[in-house]
Amino acid sequence: MSIFYHESTQTFHLTNGEISYLMKVLPNGALGQLYCGQAVRDRESFDHLLELRSRPMSSCVFEGNRYFSLEHCKQEYPAYGSTDFRHPAVELCQPNGSRITDFVYHSHTVMPGKPALPGLPATYCEADGEAETLTVCLRDPLLEVELYLNYTIFAGQPALARSACLKNRGGQDLHLTAAMSLSLDLPDSGYEFVHFSGAWSRERFMKVRQLEQGIQSVESTRGHSSHNHNPFIMLRRPGTDEDKGEVMGFSLVYSGNFLAQVEVDNWDTARVTMGINPFGFDWKLSPGGEFQTPEAVMVYSSQGMGAMSRAFHKLYRTRLARGYWRDRPRPVLLNNWEATYFDFTEDKLVSIAEAARKDGVELFVLDDGWFGARTHESAGLGDWAANPDRLPGGITRLAERVERLGLRFGLWFEPEMANKDSDLYRTHPDWIIQTPGRRSSPGRNQYVLDFSRPEVVDHIYGMMAKILSEAKVSYIKWDMNRSITEAFSAALPPDRQGELFHRYILGVYDLYERLTTAFPHVLFESCASGGGRFDPGLLYYAPQGWASDDSDAVERLKIQYGTSFCYPISSIGAHVSAVPNHQLGRITPLSTRGNAACFGAFGYELDLNRLTGEERELVREQIAFVKEYRQTLQFGDFYRLLSPFEGNFTAWMAVSPDRRTALVGWYKTLNEVNGPYRRVKLRGLDPDLAYTVDGGAEHYGDELMRVGLTVSDAAAGESEQRSGITGDFASHIFVVKSV
Ligand code: DGJ
Repeated sequence: MSIFYHESTQTFHLTNGEISYLMKVLPNGALGQLYCGQAVRDRESFDHLLELRSRPMSSCVFEGNRYFSLEHCKQEYPAYGSTDFRHPAVELCQPNGSRITDFVYHSHTVMPGKPALPGLPATYCEADGEAETLTVCLRDPLLEVELYLNYTIFAGQPALARSACLKNRGGQDLHLTAAMSLSLDLPDSGYEFVHFSGAWSRERFMKVRQLEQGIQSVESTRGHSSHNHNPFIMLRRPGTDEDKGEVMGFSLVYSGNFLAQVEVDNWDTARVTMGINPFGFDWKLSPGGEFQTPEAVMVYSSQGMGAMSRAFHKLYRTRLARGYWRDRPRPVLLNNWEATYFDFTEDKLVSIAEAARKDGVELFVLDDGWFGARTHESAGLGDWAANPDRLPGGITRLAERVERLGLRFGLWFEPEMANKDSDLYRTHPDWIIQTPGRRSSPGRNQYVLDFSRPEVVDHIYGMMAKILSEAKVSYIKWDMNRSITEAFSAALPPDRQGELFHRYILGVYDLYERLTTAFPHVLFESCASGGGRFDPGLLYYAPQGWASDDSDAVERLKIQYGTSFCYPISSIGAHVSAVPNHQLGRITPLSTRGNAACFGAFGYELDLNRLTGEERELVREQIAFVKEYRQTLQFGDFYRLLSPFEGNFTAWMAVSPDRRTALVGWYKTLNEVNGPYRRVKLRGLDPDLAYTVDGGAEHYGDELMRVGLTVSDAAAGESEQRSGITGDFASHIFVVKSV
């Protein structure tokens, strides 16, 4: 891994044998982009890649030089209005009203490792030689503002992390109205734009569009990364599939308002920008002040989307997630939400936990409704002390009773919210986000606390820390159930109101940081009405997240499949719930519910006491199976085989690092009668190893990958011939083991 700098051409080359990233200082002092892609050998000059041309009707930077227009130049952190008319990476509004900036190369440093980003989640390294970081400093001499562009390249990984920092060294107040984490100009637009969009209960559905001249984007303006769009996009060449073709993934390590945009100009170049959404953003940069953007991570793959995903999985699982649980198999949990909703007593909870323990569950989680006056949706949020009517011995006694059964105990919080019917709101009505003189719009009958205010975060920390210190709590589910409306902070002056959304997220990160530091053994699971804040930012604090409130096995296939493009399987909270399913009314076999959920942080979302003896037996088998294989299921190499977005069948598999064990999940939506013969080609096996499938016949890896595993369905239209994987919503997990 090396970062080269060639003085004679002022060229930077970041390379690690996997990727090359080339930049150079342009004639006007700005930083230009030359190449981003598969590794190439180094040379002194790559100037020919600039392709400066004279184009009619262009404005030019220098008089007498018709060849240098920023409009036709690939750049690293462009500004608008000095011959470039595309959307910028940075915009600074000045006291005289001008927004023109001119950042000129000043100096650069190369350092081993990767510095942390204060107050922000980011990838990191642990050992020498894992990564190297280039920081290029540019200055706008008129404004006396410094711009630091950070680039980290990781050894052996096709990944690059970027961020920017602006420092006001001058004497005037400035307003930063755009500060993106990443801007990348690509020389052509021959890509498909892939994003993961949806809504509550159908998060991260894969969408593909052709790039066209003009702007295409996904974003959030809701105060959280959102169910609607995820801060992750891909650009892939047409024809790219899971194991061939060029693809670039762009991921923002951030949980608030974001923008991921591709602007294709009229010469078919493509500008990718990713960062905090400039919509509504206005950060006052006073003299001496600085602003650090969140980090964006790019992964390049020349071997299809599968390799790209595995690179993200590895980086995010091992060098973004942190703490005690990072590398540990996740406990099998049972959450009482869909089992009881708000209707429970201490004894009822203990009886649910008892059954769970009998079947092999390891962690019992008490969800919403245990605190304050929270016996329904409209009261109690903000009062983080147990409701003595429901839990006379408090959380302490309940946790003890659960622990005595031989289970760990977990607890739900929604720290960022308050109901108006709460002691918190009655004492501090000014702590919610609301605009003076305007209606405050409720969401689920609740309001958002102003986490931009340190005293609010302190207060919530105090209540949560008290419970965690008094009771034996091993897990926290941190929920967040509404978007921010009437955004305004009573604590911010008028010229800083545009900072609220970002300051809010910094407050959330601060609380996470304090709690995870004070209680390092607690496993955190993030949640926002399911997957409304399933993003890399929270992965830094919470190594797993509740992927969706939709627990229907068939819908989950799409949700988990979409999620897997960027996020490691160990981070995807996935539970078996009751039928008819509470979101859809669909009835799927218990086996399929388990087979879908076991590719994730596995658990149950039902009262096992309500199942039949036969079903309980299957639950025991499922849990035993997960325990035996969770190291591979959660931490193995993940391969997508068949997409639920493309047909009736879904398949994926996880392979152990030594390639001796693989679990293949095979799922059918609707049954078909007298159907065709089917094989599914496996991936990631050792071609030279002989494997058994489900303990039976032996096949070499090359056969399983090149010929495929036979998955023909037995339904022949005659009932006596129905056997094996047949029926609607049927599924099977093939256990593939080397002999
Ligand atoms: C939304 C979450 O996604 C659910 O799992 C559950 O925790 C409820 N909130 C509780 O209010």
